[in-house]
Amino acid sequence: MKADIVLGLQWGDEGKGKIVDILSPQYKAVARFHGGANAGHTLIFDGQKVVLNTIPSGIFRKDVQNVIGTGVVFDAMAFQKEVNTLEGLGYELRTWKNLSISYKAHLLLPTHKLLDQFAEESLGENKIGSTQKGIAPAYADKILRKGLRVGEILSTSFEKECRLLMEAHASYMQQAYNQTIDIQPLFEAYINSIELVRQFPIVDTEKQLNELLAAGEPILAEGAQATLLDIDHGTYPYVTSSNTTAGGVCTGLGIAPRKIGEVYGVFKAYCTRVGNGPFATELHNELGEALRAKGQEFGAVTKRARRVGWLDIPALKYAVMLNGVTQLIMTKADVLSQLDTIQICTHYTNNQHFINKETPTPAYITMEGWQEDITAIRDAAAMPPALVKYIQFLENELQVPITYVSVGPDRAQMIQR
Ligand code: GTP
Repeated sequence: MKADIVLGLQWGDEGKGKIVDILSPQYKAVARFHGGANAGHTLIFDGQKVVLNTIPSGIFRKDVQNVIGTGVVFDAMAFQKEVNTLEGLGYELRTWKNLSISYKAHLLLPTHKLLDQFAEESLGENKIGSTQKGIAPAYADKILRKGLRVGEILSTSFEKECRLLMEAHASYMQQAYNQTIDIQPLFEAYINSIELVRQFPIVDTEKQLNELLAAGEPILAEGAQATLLDIDHGTYPYVTSSNTTAGGVCTGLGIAPRKIGEVYGVFKAYCTRVGNGPFATELHNELGEALRAKGQEFGAVTKRARRVGWLDIPALKYAVMLNGVTQLIMTKADVLSQLDTIQICTHYTNNQHFINKETPTPAYITMEGWQEDITAIRDAAAMPPALVKYIQFLENELQVPITYVSVGPDRAQMIQR
């Protein structure tokens, strides 16, 4: 049995959470392989809306094992909040025992968040657009080999080591940013959240996942952020601090490359980007504003307005190549309804390929729009001809089938082709 992957092909917010939620009944386990509470996976079903930051999107299914993998930087305080919300909604995670955390995932401390905030502020005009959730400083400590890992919370020396690291962070903030931080209240709140974490299985998740595969059980790896935010392959430095691409599944979960199966690449029918960085097809006009309003393009984590633009085929081709995408899933097709024409960037005229900070110059083709409200369509045969043409054009360019088209935020609003 192989592990399948759901990941974003653009700059995030493609609706991956909804896709994982829909696909998860087919899997025995759903695993997060990178990132942390900077993800904001929004799920809408049965009239309720839930945003997941750290916990995998398979959590609503009792018989699906949800795994927070080794590649994740684990924020115990964000986790505590999420567990309380979910348990308040009736999902008894501690009783269900369908959530495990990697022993080797790194801990994200409250001082990592402060370090992130001060670092971002100090950049002035050149801000990266960080979610300020402490992700980069937590990964920095991991790479510097100063970090603490989840398994260490089971040791008697944990509190001492945690306090030492927080003190080191405070001393750095004093020197670098002239900020005096009283770590005591942060430490107390943090240790309180660690008490809750200890009630969940902290395990060797590599073994857990590989044993499931060996027993013939399928696994789904859940990506966060997206390909063009990958630390190595994205639009550096306007990127996130982890490998968001398919390779991140192998390192983040300890799953060998030959055990990877389907790679579902999720993309919006248009493009959005939050934070700074090149965005070739960005719309700086009323149409951009209208799409932002209709698509509700405001961050689930930061509430920031997302930048909006047309679909970018060179960027998608690059993402398909990097990830070895086997099936495409197009979301938010409903947001493009009622436009007379739709533009698609087919190539760049100045040959820029995500190698520097410059914005490529896009060349477009214009396609006919569709006027119909498509939000109630469930059958591919009922799709307006102009939408079918749009899909076929993309499939032809990308040479990968679009197997699902999402036509609204609800779990039920999906067309399978
Ligand atoms: P990140 O990991 O943070 O990038 O999250 P994500 O890819 O899971 O996306 P997120 O949930 O942040 O954003 C998607 C938003 O679009 C959510 O509010 C969804 O409810 C909504 N959404 C998902 N699919 C559709 C769709 O087909 N149409 C519309 N109109 N909204 C959708």
